[in-house]
Amino acid sequence: DAVQNAASLNRYPDGASSELREKLGEINNLNPEQIICGAGSDEILELIAYAYCGEGDEVIYTQHGFLVYPIAAMSAGAKPIAVAEKNLTADVDTILAAVNERTRIVMLANPNNPTGTYISGAELKRLRADLREDILLVIDNAYAECVTADDYDMGYDLADAAPNTIITRTFSKMYGIPALRVGWGYAAPEIIDILNRIRPPFNLTTLGQVGACAALDDVEFMQKSVAHNTKWREWLSAELRGLGCEVPPSQGNFVLAKFADANAVFEKLRANDIIVREMGGYGLPEYLRISIGLEADMKKLVALLGE
Ligand SMILES: Cc1ncc(COP(=O)(O)O)c(C=O)c1O
Repeated sequence: DAVQNAASLNRYPDGASSELREKLGEINNLNPEQIICGAGSDEILELIAYAYCGEGDEVIYTQHGFLVYPIAAMSAGAKPIAVAEKNLTADVDTILAAVNERTRIVMLANPNNPTGTYISGAELKRLRADLREDILLVIDNAYAECVTADDYDMGYDLADAAPNTIITRTFSKMYGIPALRVGWGYAAPEIIDILNRIRPPFNLTTLGQVGACAALDDVEFMQKSVAHNTKWREWLSAELRGLGCEVPPSQGNFVLAKFADANAVFEKLRANDIIVREMGGYGLPEYLRISIGLEADMKKLVALLGE
């Protein structure tokens, strides 16, 4: 309906994504002036890299962190530095130990894709407190809506406290509209101003803006999606562990599972029309990432693995 109602496709979109920013501000209790929208949060991450690092600089991310971080760093001419995780989870002390005079940015997905693991609000606060003030901390909350852990915090307070922290979020995961390419960032006005200077003037389409506003209005869809995701994430994790797989606790809309022969499992599932994600590119060749799907899909997958 939203797409049908989106008028004026013969005109350029609103370059400031004003209505969407207003709505995001209202719903999240944030100042819309401190919000920037992007063609997916990927674009926000790229803008951050272009604006805040270059030749001779380093960008820290964690060992199995989202791969757009090193790509964004390298496209800006900087060197990505992957730091070790503990139990497939970001470790604040290891991140801090990797900081040197060349460090410009730390990029952290919380929870992370593909591990599904997260660090608590207290740990996030400690990371910001112990990180040099002139280093930009990027807290990528792409999976925030899926999180059920009580001690999770998106970090808005940290972004409010100083112009050295930016929060990113997306409509691509639990809002279910990755094809429309809508993401956003929240930071101090100084940071938003810098990012707006290099942002392409019409980076979001009209359909993206209208679709995202409609998605924000559909509260029931989100509630149903979160309930479904939580139920089947926990069910799938337990079943996989029952089958002998190592499964890190996931706060995302997927689980990561370790198999004796991940390749054979991948092929078997594919032969049965279930596509999971191979993890070699993330340095986790023994693992597969499995998205939470419909009940029938989850049961079919577990039945196939149990054979
Ligand atoms: C951790 C994380 N951040 C950001 C993104 C980018 O999503 P989008 O550009 O669709 O907003 C993804 C997508 O896979 C992700 O997993």
